[in-house]
Amino acid sequence: MQVTPWDVEGVIDYDRLIEEFGMRPFNEVLEEIENPHILMKRGAIFGHRDYWRIVDAMRKGEAWAVMSGFMPSGLPHFGHKMTMDEIVWHQKAGGKAFVAIADMEAHSVRGLSWEKTREIGLEYIKSIIALGLDSNAVIYFQSKSNHVKDLAFELSAEVNFSELRAIYGFNGETKLAKMFITAVQAADILHPQLQEFGGPKPVVVPVGADQDPHMRLTRDLAARASIFSFEPIEGGLRIRSRKGNEYLKALKELNLETRFYEEHVDVSGSVDEIEREVREVELRLGGFAFIPPSSTYHRFTTGLTGGKMSSSKPESYISLLDSPDEGAKKVMKAFTGGRVTADEQRRLGGEPDKCVVFELYSYHLIENDNELRQIESNCRGGKLLCGKCKKNAAELVRNFLKEHQEKMDEAEDKLEDYTIIGL
Ligand code: TRP
Ligand code: SF4
Repeated sequence: MQVTPWDVEGVIDYDRLIEEFGMRPFNEVLEEIENPHILMKRGAIFGHRDYWRIVDAMRKGEAWAVMSGFMPSGLPHFGHKMTMDEIVWHQKAGGKAFVAIADMEAHSVRGLSWEKTREIGLEYIKSIIALGLDSNAVIYFQSKSNHVKDLAFELSAEVNFSELRAIYGFNGETKLAKMFITAVQAADILHPQLQEFGGPKPVVVPVGADQDPHMRLTRDLAARASIFSFEPIEGGLRIRSRKGNEYLKALKELNLETRFYEEHVDVSGSVDEIEREVREVELRLGGFAFIPPSSTYHRFTTGLTGGKMSSSKPESYISLLDSPDEGAKKVMKAFTGGRVTADEQRRLGGEPDKCVVFELYSYHLIENDNELRQIESNCRGGKLLCGKCKKNAAELVRNFLKEHQEKMDEAEDKLEDYTIIGL
């Protein structure tokens, strides 16, 4: 198994991925969430980092944001739909939404012309609006956001080559632009916390598990680019300053119990309160005071033909722009968890957990839990055969695509209502 932002190979063992990357299982926060999305309830979202920050902010009614990005190289498909649904759900739950169209990444890493990235980017924008994104979102093309580009440059001062090599496996052949794109993505993720957007706040980044290396780098950079950093100690936090010990003096303003040392300050009290007050001091000093971003991780979408989904194999995935007939046809050809013969299937039952069609039902086509459970038990019990089941799924896909594309056309007429930087 190999999982990097540019390469996903082999059979993915999600428990091992959690372990190796140091994520947390999503189950542990699921119960804390009011009306969780089906992708949360049904295990598509399997991991997270610091999602408790978001849960806390939701509960206390404090400001928070959701941000993610799309590389406009291939057309949007059901894998991207997951991220889009996650952004829309978080926006409805009270988060300020930011959507990046990663044209700098598509241009420099995938070699697309700027013109092409703009054209494809627009399809992503229309799609996410069709899926329910409200107009108070901030949508932008990376190449047109000065906030993002300036911050990327600033962050790049904190990263050296050895670190990029360790995280991404870069080597002497790696182009500078591909390295720089990591700072651009970190800036995408951190810029909602700039003063211009209301200052430091928890931000959740819903992504596929392959994007975790970017999250690890960004969470590190959040601390490194800020003046103060935090370490847990008994009864409070130890504060250090990477920008120089003279900054520690400013912590004399704190109305908390403090003990000053040459290279750190120990503060007693509740962790939340200390973090909040120290960040306020930092903002007065002109620092970023970034909060490390949170993230959620969803599973990779299985290719319709069994193996990997690949943008170079159009029959391996359903694009959100496929004609309804085309989409339905692809479902009929999909790889299922069925047995070799109908007889065998009646006897042994099907295997929905290995079935691409069931994955489509579960993550995209069926909201109603009872309806989904019914299909699952009929499949396992051998009462439902794949031919009939696929026909049903094909109809649902046909209707979904028809409706989605109508909504995309409506979105095209509504674009002026949205903030879209670079359109
Ligand atoms: N690199 C992501 C991809 O390949 C796209 C992306 C760009 C992104 N900026 C982001 C994802 C910020 C999450 C957050 O799909
Ligand atoms: Fe998949 Fe449906 Fe066949 Fe079960 S009956 S294996 S869910 S296609």
